Formats: sequence, structure tokens, C-alpha cells
Amino acid sequence: MALADGLIRSKNCMINDITLTRRSSTSLAEYNKKGFAVTTDNSAAINEADIIFLCVLPQQLNKVLEEIQSAFISEKQLIVSVVTGVHTDDIRKQLSEDVRVIRAMPNTALRVNKSMTCLSASNATQNDIQLVQQIFNTMGTTIIIHEDMMSAATALCACGIAFFLRAIRAAAQGGVEIGFHAHDAITIAAQTALGAAELLLQNGTHPEEEIDKVTSPKGCTIAGLNEMEHQGLSSAMIKGIKTSANIAKELYKR
Ligand SMILES: NC(=O)c1ccc[n+]([C@@H]2O[C@H](COP(=O)([O-])OP(=O)(O)OC[C@H]3O[C@@H](n4cnc5c(N)ncnc54)[C@H](OP(=O)(O)O)[C@@H]3O)[C@@H](O)[C@H]2O)c1
Repeated sequence: MALADGLIRSKNCMINDITLTRRSSTSLAEYNKKGFAVTTDNSAAINEADIIFLCVLPQQLNKVLEEIQSAFISEKQLIVSVVTGVHTDDIRKQLSEDVRVIRAMPNTALRVNKSMTCLSASNATQNDIQLVQQIFNTMGTTIIIHEDMMSAATALCACGIAFFLRAIRAAAQGGVEIGFHAHDAITIAAQTALGAAELLLQNGTHPEEEIDKVTSPKGCTIAGLNEMEHQGLSSAMIKGIKTSANIAKELYKR
């Protein structure tokens, strides 16, 4: 649904150009009120569609593909799949050998137009890639990657939001312990995280270069940073990312 809202904001289509499906019509009512076409019939939903977005959990995908298979027209319709762990070959086997598929791995920052979205294409045309990249660019930033890197992208980009949120929560908890009220601590921690990210993105620098600028000899920043490293900060993040990537790879097979 975040994607549907983002598509409207992107102005690539009108609200009534989009048909949303779920299994229960009750949960679609709110979107129907906004002006989206809604249905619980996946096969009917793809009639007339130029692009079909697959946005279900990996274990829910086969049923959806079964439902749309007879109505799907490979010459006309492009598939965009955000489903974790599902290779384009898996989609091809169930829909059609010549299906054009673009896999997208965004994150929930879609809602504030700040998503990092990794895209990979299979059998898609340059026009397809450009169109999908343009759509996701309006909701943040995109990069095109090789499909083999999609599980890694899931960990770093989609799960990554949770990792950085937890880091902000931890910083805020520290802030409370040293005297800030909780809401001030969150604001300070979140804005500081935003500032750190902007420094890297705008200056094109390496994090360590920016860290060097704020760590004076015998100072409090390096003392805090080294204590965090003694407690395993970088190691915990690296191990967590590797664990998520390994699980992402297996989600569809489970
Ligand atoms: N959340 C993220 O940050 C994120 C980021 C990148 C990629 N992804 C991937 O995107 C996919 C969706 O993730 P999510 O977090 O949005 O999951 P979710 O909240 O569980 O959404 C899945 C949706 O699929 C609908 N659905 C299930 N079976 C269906 C069917 N047969 N026909 C029509 N609709 C059906 C569900 O609605 P009903 O139950 O009402 O049918 C629900 O709205 C996953 O593969 C996930 O790995 C998620």
C-alpha cells in the first residue's frame, strides 16, 4: 500500500489507473475510498494492466501467480516483483518463459520519498528499466544491481531500515540515561543520524573520514567510539547483515 501511495505521488499514473488486490475486501475499503480500484480477484485485476506489481510474502506468491497465469499477456505486461527471495526464473517457470521482470527491493522510507531501492532486470527492455527506475526515483534513490545481489540488497536496504532504527533507539536510550527526556532524545538521535547520512551522501566521503573530523586526541568522541567497538558495535552490525542475507535467500524455498 505504501507503494500504491508512492505511485500516486510520483505522478506517473492517476489514482484510478491503479487496481489494488488483497484477499479480504474489508481491508481494501479504505483504499477504495481514496479512489483506487480494488478487487479480491487477482486475475480480473490484471486485465488492461501494463505493469503488474507483485507485493506479497514469498510464501503467498505461488497462489497469486497461479491466479493470474491465464490472464497474463507476456508481450504486453511487465512484472515488477518486490517479493523477497524469489528469483526471476521462479516467476518465469510459473508465468511464461518470455516474461519481462524487474525485481525491486525498496524499504519503508518509500512513505517519505527517501527509500533506497535496488533494482535488477531480467529480459526487460531499456524502456521498462527506465520507467521503473523513474517511478522509484520519485520515492527516493535507485541503483541497478545484478540479480545475484538481491538477497544482499534485502539485508542492507530493506532490513537495513530496522537496523538503523534500532541504532537510533539505542542512542536515544543512552541519551535518556545521561539526562534527556525520551522524546528529546529521539529527536536529537534521529536528526544526528540524518546529518551523518547527509554528510556521506553530499560530500561523497567515507564514514571514517567524517569520523576523523570529530575525534580529537584524548577526546570524548574517540573514547565513546572505542568503547562501543570494544563491545562489538561493528561486528554486531556485520553479523546481523550476514544473517539477514542468508535468511532472505531461503525465504521462498521454506
Ligand atoms: N516491508 C518492507 O519493508 C519490504 C521491503 C522490501 C521488500 N519487501 C517484500 O515485499 C513483500 C510484501 O511485504 P509486506 O511487508 O508488504 O508484507 P505484508 O504487509 O504481509 O503484505 C502482504 C500483502 O499481500 C496481501 N496478499 C496476500 N495474499 C494475497 C493474495 N493471494 N492476493 C492478493 N493479496 C494478497 C496481503 O493482504 P491480505 O492478507 O488482506 O490478503 C497483504 O496486504 C514481501 O515479499 C517482502 O519481503 C518488503
